[in-house]
Amino acid sequence: MTEFERWLGEGFVQLNTVFEEAYFAAGQEYAPDLGQEEVLHEGAKRLPGLEREHSLEGDRYRLLGSVGLYLAACARHRVEDEEVLAPAWALATRLGTSLGVAPRYVFAHQSLYGFRTFTSLPDEQAFVRLNGLAVVAYERAAHALRLVATTGVDSPVVEHLLGEARRALEDVLSFNRVLAETVDPQRFYLGIRPYFRSHRVGTQVYRGVNAGDFAAVNEIDLLLGLCRADDPFYQRIVAEKLPYVPPDHQTRLHQAVLVEPLLHRFLREPLYAGLFLDVCRAHGAAYALHHGRLVKPFLEAQAGAEQDVTASGPPLSVVVAELAHLVDLRTARPRAGAFGAHEELRRLAELV
Ligand code: HEM
Repeated sequence: MTEFERWLGEGFVQLNTVFEEAYFAAGQEYAPDLGQEEVLHEGAKRLPGLEREHSLEGDRYRLLGSVGLYLAACARHRVEDEEVLAPAWALATRLGTSLGVAPRYVFAHQSLYGFRTFTSLPDEQAFVRLNGLAVVAYERAAHALRLVATTGVDSPVVEHLLGEARRALEDVLSFNRVLAETVDPQRFYLGIRPYFRSHRVGTQVYRGVNAGDFAAVNEIDLLLGLCRADDPFYQRIVAEKLPYVPPDHQTRLHQAVLVEPLLHRFLREPLYAGLFLDVCRAHGAAYALHHGRLVKPFLEAQAGAEQDVTASGPPLSVVVAELAHLVDLRTARPRAGAFGAHEELRRLAELV
């Protein structure tokens, strides 16, 4: 481990924790004049060592996460001094270009490439842990469904795989429910969300990140057939996400838009259609919970009339409307003038 990375796990966390406690005590997202420049300078001091000690040909994605965590904290504490940050911006850009990803930290760096938090506060620890667990559960479901696609929908092995996918999606729902019950919405809003926001790397601003920046959820959508790769709304969701997922997830998204939906295959060979419909219901239920128990109380209710609070940049009402459209797709609720799988699912249910 490099000196920079050791600092990220120790001094960096201590500084962020002190500032977050002060902001929270003031009931604000930010408070000036607390000495936040220390984060900027302590990181900058160690950065030359990082390049020396770390082979850029090694674990570049993890390294991008390290530089990115530092940059996100500087943006969060409003200490983005151009001159001081220039070397960090240059390194992040070089790593991002070589990997074909946005040159910033994304959620995968926190929960899939090690376990890293900005502070030692219990709410952030719980948030990152439970979020990571939900992502891992989505991965299990996607893995099982990919195997259904290759095994063939009438294989006796499919019964087990569909059960595995359903259980994994039920786990997503449980982890998200525990998150909703454990993390304090105000702590999330004032002290966790601000690290996820858009920030500058060099001359360009990169959008903020969220817990949905991984491939599995979209693989599940497309494999099940609840969302379609030729639906312009959904095409935009996937294309927009590409630079914000790890390189291997990009490859998986490229493949996911080419697969034939399992829904069509089960309509032709409905032997295990009942189990397939259970998986669809579990996916819809988990995502409906994301909307009702996370987006609404943790973001909408906290924001009040404030609109400029989302990770990605558009006004909150636009983001929430887009997420509501995704809820309709994943729960197969008909939506006027838009694609939805309700009719095909109804036909499949008749075959069970
Ligand atoms: C307090 C907790 C959470 C809140 C407030 C929240 C809110 C949001 C918001 C507002 C977005 C839209 C991104 C934007 O444009 O800003 C989003 C996206 C997303 N979130 Fe969450 N989220 C939370 C936790 C989670 C967790 C634990 C998961 C599970 C892995 C998750 C899965 C997703 C997914 C998959 C997307 C991408 C859009 C999609 O494909 O549905 N979120 N979330």
